[in-house]
Order: sequence, then structure tokens, then C-alpha cells
Amino acid sequence: MKKVLKKIGLALLILFVIIQFFRPAKNINTVDATKVVAAVFTMPDNVGKILQKSCYDCHSNNTAYPWYNNFQPVMWYLNNHVNEGKREINFDEFATYKLRRQFHKMEEIIEQVEEGEMPLYSYTLIHSDAKLSKEDKEVLIAWAKANMDSMKAKYPIDSLIKKK
Ligand code: HEC
Repeated sequence: MKKVLKKIGLALLILFVIIQFFRPAKNINTVDATKVVAAVFTMPDNVGKILQKSCYDCHSNNTAYPWYNNFQPVMWYLNNHVNEGKREINFDEFATYKLRRQFHKMEEIIEQVEEGEMPLYSYTLIHSDAKLSKEDKEVLIAWAKANMDSMKAKYPIDSLIKKK
């Protein structure tokens, strides 16, 4: 029995060492100012600060990585969140989205923030400063609503919502 445990332990250790060599590319990129969300919507300072501290690690082209991201399998875990988050909404590419998608994403932001779904719970466990205060939530929601209103004022509704 002891021998078997030793073998399993050794195998796990070797596996741990091997996976350290698999390193996904980091989400660190130069930002194109013509594509960012501020290129299509007004971006007051307070909104920008909230997005930066609570959302951009997973929803922008630049993640501020913690030190423990230097180890596998943590890298895979974080990389997954970043890729999934960016696929859903990337504030650094927001201006490239079709009008309908922009409009819908603003609606989703309101929903996710109201329901307390974002930022992800697993993230705020470690980044407690990223938790949204009641005031942060109100600021974000008001901003997203104002963006939807300004789109409605600017474009015909068919170009924002698919006809049923
Ligand atoms: C730790 C990474 C992480 C952080 C931080 C984070 N998100 Fe997310 N977000 C995700 C992931 C992953 C998904 C997709 C899976 C899901 O919905 O749980 C997602 C999905 C979303 C969606 C849903 C998009 C859709 O169309 O369904 C919205 C909206 C969103 N996030 C907004 C935000 C906002 C606003 C913040 C900041 C207040 C934020 N997120 C912070 C990882 C993150």
C-alpha cells in the first residue's frame, strides 16, 4: 500500500512539473482607441474606474495577473475565465460590435449587475476590492441605461432589436 501511494505521489509530482511547460498566451495587448467602448459611448471618470477595477481583468484586452498566475493549473483556470469573458463582452472591442449587439450587451450589463452575477464570485473572493458597492451598481446601471437611451434616440428601433 505504501509503495503504491509513493508511486502515485511521484506520478502526480511529475505531472505537475510537466504541465508547467504549457503556458497559454497572456491577455496583454496594445489597445486600439478607435475600438474601445469610450469610442461609442461617453465614459465618465467614475464609470471608467469601476469598469477598470471590477470588469476589465476578464472583459478587456489587458488583464492584470496575480503572482500565482505563474503556476499551472491556475493559468489554465484564469485563462479560461478571461477567454470566456472576452467572448461575451470585450470593452476594448466594443465599438466593433454591430448596433444590435451593443444594445443587447448594455441590457445584459444591467441584468448581470442587478442580479449581482458580475464580477464572478470566484474573482471577488480574492479581489475583494473589485466587489461592487451599492453606489457602483447604481452608477453602472444608470450609465448602461443612458447608453441604450442614446442609441434609441439615434437609430431606428429595428436596427437595435430584432423584429419578432
Ligand atoms: C473573473 C472574470 C470576470 C470578471 C471580473 C467579470 N466578468 Fe463578466 N463574465 C465573465 C465570464 C466568464 C462570463 C461568461 C460566463 C457567465 O456568464 O458566467 C461573463 C459574462 C458577462 C456578461 C454576460 C454577457 C451576455 O451577453 O450574456 C456580462 C454582461 C458581464 N459579464 C459583465 C461584467 C461586468 C459589468 C463586470 C464588472 C462589474 C464583469 N462582467 C466582471 C467573467 C468575468
